[in-house]
Parts: sequence; structure tokens; C-alpha cells
Amino acid sequence: MSESMNQQILLKSYPTGAPTRSNFALVETAIPQPRDGEVLNRTIYLSLDPYMRGRMSDRESYATPAELGKVMVGSTVSQVMKSKHPQFSEGDFVVGYDGWQAYGISKGESLRKLDPNQVPISYALGITGMPGMTAYFSLLDIGQPKAGETVVVSAASGAAGSVVGQIAKIKGCRAVGVVGSDQKCDYIVNELGFDACINRKTQDLNSALKAACPNGIDVYVDHTAGPILEAVLQQINLGARIPLVGLISQYNAEKLPTGPNLMPLLVKRALIKGFLVGDYQERHAEFIHDVSQWLQAGKLKYKEDVVKGLEAAPDAFMGLFQGQNFGKLIVQVGDNPTEH
Ligand SMILES: NC(=O)c1ccc[n+]([C@@H]2O[C@H](COP(=O)([O-])OP(=O)(O)OC[C@H]3O[C@@H](n4cnc5c(N)ncnc54)[C@H](OP(=O)(O)O)[C@@H]3O)[C@@H](O)[C@H]2O)c1
Repeated sequence: MSESMNQQILLKSYPTGAPTRSNFALVETAIPQPRDGEVLNRTIYLSLDPYMRGRMSDRESYATPAELGKVMVGSTVSQVMKSKHPQFSEGDFVVGYDGWQAYGISKGESLRKLDPNQVPISYALGITGMPGMTAYFSLLDIGQPKAGETVVVSAASGAAGSVVGQIAKIKGCRAVGVVGSDQKCDYIVNELGFDACINRKTQDLNSALKAACPNGIDVYVDHTAGPILEAVLQQINLGARIPLVGLISQYNAEKLPTGPNLMPLLVKRALIKGFLVGDYQERHAEFIHDVSQWLQAGKLKYKEDVVKGLEAAPDAFMGLFQGQNFGKLIVQVGDNPTEH
């Protein structure tokens, strides 16, 4: 890429089933110039998240679809290069929503300054950002775990799941994770302190859950739906809580699967409650306070899976649906001056 050019990945078409490279187009355009009230950001990190699959569709949803022919949407950590906005100065590090591109113009809405001395700036896309906040509130607000209870989480080594399990431990619970490889199991048990782990690809979910949760399941933070939810429902305790946070097993489905047997929900008077992180914006300070303290005290660990170069974004994004990411998936689009 020439120094004076912007690199962008446009959404060319909506996928049918799993996304492919042909849904994206890499283009070079002139670096835009900020007008009054705007800033020019240089992207350092781009977040890749499962929700993006939902935006790549004209299907009815809680959020508006990403527009065809436009820069693909996404959260970014950037450095302000030029500012004509009173609240931002050249050199500031910010988290915003500039999408899949090397430079973006922002009017300052939804742009937040980052202090690189607190935690690495990339964390704002993960543990101190949207996925961390999702984990914190889905578990604590809906799951309401009590010491001694058993908390199960799927996609447990990922951006949200890894935080759910660690907060469950902080709250004195037994934490059990479901993941897609032995390496991920080893990581969540031996590095993050989960009590047990199940490999969804090699183990029988019903018997493995039974063995890992001898006292049944009190809280299940569901990131996947599908067979894991189905198996968990067979082991839930009276009054279990199930924050329904994600259904990644269905995001690429062309035909929705027939539903699991929900009878155990009725029999056990369990609760499945929908969750949207956006509903918790007013409680952002509470989340940041706790998570920052836990990070500083070493009670929370965080793993990033960093792929290099904007051009690697489509393949990395597709890999989310194969479990190829190991930790919070982000793209390093430009140099990070805070890294020593
Ligand atoms: N409601 C909200 O506000 C909200 C906010 C943030 C995230 N979410 C949801 O939370 C979930 C996790 O998001 P994240 O950002 O933390 O992603 P992540 O866990 O870092 O990455 C996605 C993981 O999902 C697992 N996965 C992929 N396909 C699967 C399948 N067919 N069956 C079971 N597991 C599969 C893979 O892990 P393994 O191979 O290890 O299983 C993969 O690594 C997603 O469903 C996402 O949409 C919801």
C-alpha cells in the first residue's frame, strides 16, 4: 500500500451459508481529509467478531445490515492523525467504529479515548471492550452465579467465554468450559483456572458434561446454541439460569435446524433470557472498574489472536466459524507505537 493511499475492504455481496473471500473486495482509495468536527484515524487494530456475520445479511435483525459496496463494519483501535474536533487531538489513541480500513474519518460519536498506560490499547476490542462487557453482564446480571454453583460456558477460550469462566471462578463457582480443541482445553484449565473442560469435537457432550458437572448445572452462558445447548439442558438444576448470548452454530446455516427439546426448561422452571450488550451502556463504568482491578491483580488473564495486515481479515473472519481463532481475534492493520 502506498503511504498516501487508504486500504479498504468492502462488502461486495451477502454470503449464502459460510462467508467466502468473494464476499469481500480489497480496494485502494485516497486517504480522506477531515472536515470541521471530524478526525482522521489511522487504524491500528480491527476487531473481528461473530456478530459481523449477522450484519452480512438483509435478513430482519436487531441491527441494520452492513451496506453492500461500502467498507465492512467493525470496531477499531486507532491513532488520531489529524483532528478538527474539539475533543480529540493528534496522537490520541481511540476506540471507534471505522470498519475494515487503514484510515477512517469519524465525527467523534462513539469514539472514546484510550489511556495506553492502563492496559494495552488492543484490549479495548476485547476484555475491556464489547466482548468483556458481554461476559461480565451476561454472567453477573442474568446468570447471577452464587459461590459453590456450577457455571458452564461454550466457546470458552474465546473473547467472551474466557472472561465468563474466570469471573465465575472469582465468584467462587465451579467453571466448566466447552471448546473445540484439546489445546484450548489445556489453556482454559491450566492457564485460566477453569475446573474442567470438554472438547465438543471429540467427546460425547452428554456424558462429558455429566462427568464435569457432578452437581448439575446452575448457570449456562450460551454462546453457541445447537448441540451444546441441547446437552446442557439435560443437566440443568432447579432454577438454573441461561443467558442466551450467542448462537454461533447457526450463523452460517442456510436452513435453521429444528429446535432442541425445551421441556427441561419448563420442568425445572429455568430461565433463558435474551441479552444485548447495548442495553448495559449506562453501567459501563461499573464493568471497567471491576475488570481493570481484576486485570491489575492478575485475577483475569487475556489472550489475543493477532493476524497481520488488513488483507488477512477476510480469511481470519471466516476462520471464526471454524474455531481457527485462539483468543480474541484482531487484525493488526498498522504499527502500534505503544508496543515496546
Ligand atoms: N448478545 C450480545 O450482545 C453478544 C455480544 C458479544 C458476543 N456475542 C456472541 O457470543 C459468542 C462468542 O463471541 P466471541 O466474540 O467471544 O467469539 P470467540 O469465542 O472469540 O470466537 C468464536 C468461537 O465460537 C466457537 N464456534 C464456532 N463455530 C461453532 C459451532 N458451530 N459450534 C460451537 N462453537 C462454535 C469457536 O470456538 P471452539 O471451536 O473453541 O468451540 C470459535 O472460536 C458468539 O455467538 C457471539 O455472537 C453476543
